[in-house]
Amino acid sequence: MGQLLREKEIIAIGGGKGGVGKSFLASNLGIIFARNHKKTILVDADLGGANLHTCLGVQAPDVTLSDFVNFPNVRLEDVILRTSVENLLLISGAQDFLGIANPKYSQKMRLLRAIANLNVSYIILDLGAGTSINTLDFFLLADRGILVVMPEPTSIENAYRFIKSALFRRLRMMTQDPQVRSVIGKAMDKKNDLGIRSPVDLIEHVGRIDRRIGEHLEEAMQRFRPAIVLNQVRSMGDVRIGYSMRNACEKYFGLKVDYLGYLENDDEIWQSIRKRQPIALNGEHSRSARNLRTISYNLLNNLQLKAE
Ligand SMILES: Nc1ncnc2c1ncn2[C@@H]1O[C@H](COP(=O)(O)OP(=O)(O)OP(=O)(O)O)[C@@H](O)[C@H]1O
Ligand SMILES: [Mg+2]
Repeated sequence: MGQLLREKEIIAIGGGKGGVGKSFLASNLGIIFARNHKKTILVDADLGGANLHTCLGVQAPDVTLSDFVNFPNVRLEDVILRTSVENLLLISGAQDFLGIANPKYSQKMRLLRAIANLNVSYIILDLGAGTSINTLDFFLLADRGILVVMPEPTSIENAYRFIKSALFRRLRMMTQDPQVRSVIGKAMDKKNDLGIRSPVDLIEHVGRIDRRIGEHLEEAMQRFRPAIVLNQVRSMGDVRIGYSMRNACEKYFGLKVDYLGYLENDDEIWQSIRKRQPIALNGEHSRSARNLRTISYNLLNNLQLKAE
């Protein structure tokens, strides 16, 4: 499957809401890729609450992203840690109170550039909760953005908000036109007085200001294709939420979204985190390991389709 993929793929895992299983999915996908002989780096991009090392069973690391962000002479390569899994590397998040939760713009840009230049097959970014600008920028750096969603209204709502915010930010980054940027800024507020309620409305509005920019943004919107994973499902009804969300995104946002699969609510998962023994490593034959393999299979197929 590998030869059609690009040399390097960046995958971001977000979701808007806290505690939905982002770090669990990121760490286990990393293990699956690494065990398929692909050099993979997991980056703990949860700048305010790093804990990816715990999901992987790595002791509190002595070098972290803080060292890279705070010291210009430190290279990102200098803070890469080995893990117990061959081919799987980790860049751990901040452990200290010096705080890189709110990096300066220049620090963030240096970090994003350095991540994009890492020389491995897969880079997996484990994002923090919420839709802060920094989180959205990590999401937008990726070739593939995945949202982890739980089958409950709050998580679903946050996921939609995340998708919409990320798309609007991408569109805003694509133009320097001050009038268009101001319209996109206003459109981000749901109750804006321009009557823009959806991305499709926004593109139409921009097209009336400048047809060429409208077309350009429309193309960008077609290319924006996030994916979702449902986590902690308890019934077939829960599984179907993924399909409903996919349809709703198409109908209301005019966006194509891929549903990569689901993970059941499974005691083995929380136990795996408590015991610091990742499912993809220690519980390979479990139901959850099978679910994880389906998700990774669909993700790789998806990346392949995108590269063709
Ligand atoms: N499918 C599942 N079945 C049972 N428990 C789960 C499942 N997925 C996640 N959990 C539980 O949810 C907890 C939170 O998961 P995780 O840390 O991956 O979430 P997160 O989205 O990264 O959270 P944060 O927003 O704090 O970074 C896990 O410690 C685990 O106990
Ligand atoms: Mg997390």
